[in-house]
Amino acid sequence: MNINNVVFERSFGTSSQLPASTLPEIAFAGRSNVGKSSLLNKLFNRKGLAKVSQTPGKTATINFFACDGVRFVDLPGYGYAKVSKSEKERWSELIEGYFNQDRDLALVVSLVDIRHAASALDEGMVGFLREVGLPFAVALTKADKLSRQQQMKQRSAIMRQLGLASDVPVVVCSSEKGTGIDELRALIAAAATR
Ligand code: GTP
Ligand code: MG
Repeated sequence: MNINNVVFERSFGTSSQLPASTLPEIAFAGRSNVGKSSLLNKLFNRKGLAKVSQTPGKTATINFFACDGVRFVDLPGYGYAKVSKSEKERWSELIEGYFNQDRDLALVVSLVDIRHAASALDEGMVGFLREVGLPFAVALTKADKLSRQQQMKQRSAIMRQLGLASDVPVVVCSSEKGTGIDELRALIAAAATR
């Protein structure tokens, strides 16, 4: 996959607008503000590809990007309390609607902030992926905010908390420093060509 070939495809505001899955998809899921859009930008070395904001709730639609026959899906974040009930419902409709469709999911990258314990919603997300048997990896984000030692400690704690089997890849990432990006690219490439 040549990362320079990435193109933005489309945004979707409701899951019923989503076209049938025509390409293997790599989806990015996680809490609002965990760093999904930033990670996508870093994977492609393109600052403005996906919109990033300090304010949680930036990505309010499902965004499709394509690169060499693989589709990348930037999902809205879950768990952001400070939006209206109707916005929250629209987001869950989008996220759940996406995962409940019969899509060609090659890999779900489930993002968790390395600084904190996984939230109940993170546990729910991973539990769901395990239950339905979707291939997934966990990306622990914002590693640049912790020392190496703290990173290792948090990695074990979060893995234990999420009850991750040893075959689930866990990647310590920083979109700021580039940590874990090559490892993630390799996982994605392997998943997409399976
Ligand atoms: P929503 O679209 O709201 O769900 O958020 P998101 O998960 O897409 O997060 P986004 O990429 O917009 O990043 C949220 C904030 O975290 C921004 O201020 C980013 O600059 C910051 N951020 C993201 N990744 C990192 C990282 O690896 N290190 C640090 N220090 N900050 C990061
Ligand atoms: Mg986003």
